[in-house]
Amino acid sequence: MMTFSKETTGAVLVANFSKNVANKTIVITGASSGSLGGQTAIDLAHSQPPPAHLILLARSEAKVQPVIDQINTSTTGPLAKFVPILLDDFDSIRSAAKAITDIVGPQGKIDILMNYAGIMAVPYSLSKAGIESQFATNHIGHFLLTLRLKSHLSKNARIINVSSDGYKLGRFDPEKYNFDDGKSYHPWSGYGQSKTANILFTKGLAKRGVISFALHPGVIFGTGLTVGMTDSDKLFEQLEEISVRNTGEAMVMGEGKTVEQGVATAIRAVVDPSLDGKNGSFLDDCEVVEVLDYARDDKLVESLWELSEKLVGEKFVI
Ligand SMILES: NC(=O)c1ccc[n+]([C@@H]2O[C@H](COP(=O)([O-])OP(=O)(O)OC[C@H]3O[C@@H](n4cnc5c(N)ncnc54)[C@H](OP(=O)(O)O)[C@@H]3O)[C@@H](O)[C@H]2O)c1
Repeated sequence: MMTFSKETTGAVLVANFSKNVANKTIVITGASSGSLGGQTAIDLAHSQPPPAHLILLARSEAKVQPVIDQINTSTTGPLAKFVPILLDDFDSIRSAAKAITDIVGPQGKIDILMNYAGIMAVPYSLSKAGIESQFATNHIGHFLLTLRLKSHLSKNARIINVSSDGYKLGRFDPEKYNFDDGKSYHPWSGYGQSKTANILFTKGLAKRGVISFALHPGVIFGTGLTVGMTDSDKLFEQLEEISVRNTGEAMVMGEGKTVEQGVATAIRAVVDPSLDGKNGSFLDDCEVVEVLDYARDDKLVESLWELSEKLVGEKFVI
């Protein structure tokens, strides 16, 4: 039986669990070159035999093309395809869902959906629909995409919502998801709210019988999200202060991981059958761990679901 650590890489997991990757249809958001989603696509593409389809989503085709080129030149057949998506724009999400189901075909099913895309600690701004941009992109966009794809998922399909230990930076408050029109906004509190929402959404899916996991990939410097960030004591101190103030729990930055190690937790969540029966749980360093109370509060799970349906203007019966 395989054992896991902080050093485990995605490639090792794919080699060990290739049976659960081979011939699967896999959809990944946030698959730009240099990102965790992009590296995940590359690792999964190299299973033997390979997946049937790798459908890669992001804002910019130019940023995903290097990932597609790397995959399509090192595997047999044109395996990877790009679908554009703006996760802060409902029309774009609905078009992307339609494009994905067109690729998969009427008889085809999606086996793995990896919701990786995200933005972090940005200044206050609103999406087209008037939703704070981190909550809109990191949670609401993935909520709509996932539910639009729901009827195209295979019976035991797995979904992951990539959260962060940064969920300790902010709770989800259904009355204040827009931070009093920005008046009470702090970029890190906004990130915290969106990453808490990733966990609550995962639990909402699990309650409805959809297999899903949330996770913290680790701290990975050098992706698009962390570009320019360094291992700085000042930033770490600031994050500890904000987390204690907002949630009562200190967010302590762990040691950094490489991108190859940073994708391992998400890959384990979608390939390892020993996680059957752990539906709705949260993983860190490839292992299941418990989250703080406010990220597993059933009332909040349901109020997030209701608010998300209200904001996207659709009800989803599962
Ligand atoms: N890196 C870390 O240390 C770390 C730690 C904890 C959690 N995470 C989580 O891991 C996930 C991936 O982060 P990363 O480090 O790989 O960051 P990244 O390199 O910046 O990748 C983010 C991806 O999301 C896409 N994206 C951003 N906004 C979008 C939008 N409005 N619509 C569609 N796609 C959008 C980006 O597309 P473009 O390339 O077009 O911008 C990119 O493909 C995030 O959810 C993040 O919260 C990362």
